[in-house]
Parts: sequence; C-alpha cells; structure tokens
Amino acid sequence: MNFKGKVVMVTGASVGIGRATALRFAESGADLVLLDLNSEGLERVKSETATYGVDVQVYACDVSDEAQVNTACAAALAHFGRVDILVNNAGVWRGAKPFGEFTSAEWQRYLNVNVMGTVYCTNGVLPGMLERGWGRIINVGSVAGVYGNRNMTPYSASKGAVIAMTHALAKEVAHKGITVNCVSPGTVNSSEDLDPYAAKTYEDPERSLCYMNRRGSDMENADLICYLASDSAAYISGQNIQIDGCRKRV
Ligand SMILES: NC(=O)c1ccc[n+]([C@@H]2O[C@H](COP(=O)([O-])OP(=O)(O)OC[C@H]3O[C@@H](n4cnc5c(N)ncnc54)[C@H](O)[C@@H]3O)[C@@H](O)[C@H]2O)c1
Repeated sequence: MNFKGKVVMVTGASVGIGRATALRFAESGADLVLLDLNSEGLERVKSETATYGVDVQVYACDVSDEAQVNTACAAALAHFGRVDILVNNAGVWRGAKPFGEFTSAEWQRYLNVNVMGTVYCTNGVLPGMLERGWGRIINVGSVAGVYGNRNMTPYSASKGAVIAMTHALAKEVAHKGITVNCVSPGTVNSSEDLDPYAAKTYEDPERSLCYMNRRGSDMENADLICYLASDSAAYISGQNIQIDGCRKRV
C-alpha cells in the first residue's frame, strides 16, 4: 500500500493497535498526526517512525475533551493543511464487574472517551474532507459492541454506539467521496507487548474466546485499518468488520 502524500490522524497512538497503525502508515509513506493522553508514548512512537522520513506531529490530547480536540485539530490543519484519513482508535476498555457495580461516573467515562471522543475527532476533520471530496474514517469498535461482553456493559454499549454511528454517518457522506468503516477486534495481544506482530496462543484452549485459539496481533488490526484507508477499499463503506479469529459468541 502506498499512502505517500496522505495525512493520517490516529488517536490513541502511543501503544497497541494505534501504535501499530501509525507505524504501518508511516512505513507506507503517510505523514502523521498522532493524538494520545500519553505524551511520552507519542514521542517514542515518533522516534520509531524516524526511519521512514515522514512528517510526524504529535499532540498530547484527551479526546473526551472537545476543546482539546479542537486545539489539536487546528494545530494539525495549520501544519499540514488537511487530514485525509482519520483513525478513531483511542478508547478505554479495561475493567469488568457486574452491571450494578458500575457508577454513573464510570459509565460517563466509557461514553465520553469511546463515543464522544470519536464524535469530536470526526467533527474536527470531516468538514475538510467534505470540501476536498475525499476522505476515509475508520473507527475502532469491538466485538463487545456486537455480542456484548458479560460484565463489561458500559464498554459494550459504547462500542455498539460507535458501530451504529459508523453505519449512519457512512450513508450521509458516501456520495461525497468519503468512506466510513469500523474495525472490531476480538481479543488482541496485550499493549504492554511492544512487538506489534506478537499473536499469542491461549494457554488453555478450552478457555479460548475464538476458534483460532489465539489472540490477534496489533499489526493484524493495523493492516485491516490501512486496507480500509486504501484506494483498494474505495467501494467499501458503512461496514463493521470483525477481526476476531472466528469468535465464539459468548
Ligand atoms: N486490546 C483489545 O483486546 C481490544 C479488543 C477490542 C477492541 N479494542 C479497542 O482497540 C482500541 C485500542 O486498544 P488497545 O488495546 O490497542 O490499546 P490500549 O487500551 O492499551 O491503549 C489505548 C490508547 O488510547 C489512549 N487513550 C485512552 N484514553 C484516551 C483519551 N481520553 N484521550 C486520548 N487518548 C486516550 C491510551 O493512552 C492508549 O495509548 C480501543 O478503542 C479498544 O477499545 C481493543
């Protein structure tokens, strides 16, 4: 894939799927706008991309804060003049407990980061895509948003909203040269593992969540995201694509 001349914004780019996506786009020639709460992580990813000779701008930003997102988008647009591809990857997902034990504040956090973060970042770059008549938006959902994860109700609800938003927005902008898709991972290797290709087997096959009996790697997810951003995927929009090793519907 060749993304030379394209500007790609990736949120939650410090670790995991976001980092792998940033590395893959950089390797393919794209200039990058990277957002995350974790500024040290952003600097580390920026240095990892140095070998590709692309322009990488990093912005410490809480995507659930509309003013911070607007400031970061304005700075990125001032620097590059445009953002062609947006990957809404930043999300919170850790934490499992019964429904009644989640506080209102916890519900708000899942919804503010996962849903409103996606809304704010999309609002930041969509007007320019509409003006230019070309754009790609790839949201990162989850199988939790399709099947629902037991003891992860707020997270599941937030990702269900991201998937529904994908379907709806795609219909509004399809005739304007913009595709909107969602990538929904199953269980991915831990972000603490800095090898983006690692895809470990479940220790106990009986407890495996998918028939392939392994987790996905960050890079497998990045590859699907990059494919959806490419010209080869020009006729794909409004889709939620699960990347889950043939997930068991538990
Ligand atoms: N890891 C999995 O098994 C899995 C499965 C399904 C879906 N997902 C989704 O994939 C995406 C990436 O997850 P991951 O596991 O690769 O990474 P992760 O959860 O380890 O890290 C997410 C990144 O987002 C950043 N982030 C969190 N809140 C933020 C905020 N408010 N503003 C800006 N940045 C913020 C974090 O600092 C971090 O760099 C998430 O949307 C997650 O819900 C992950």
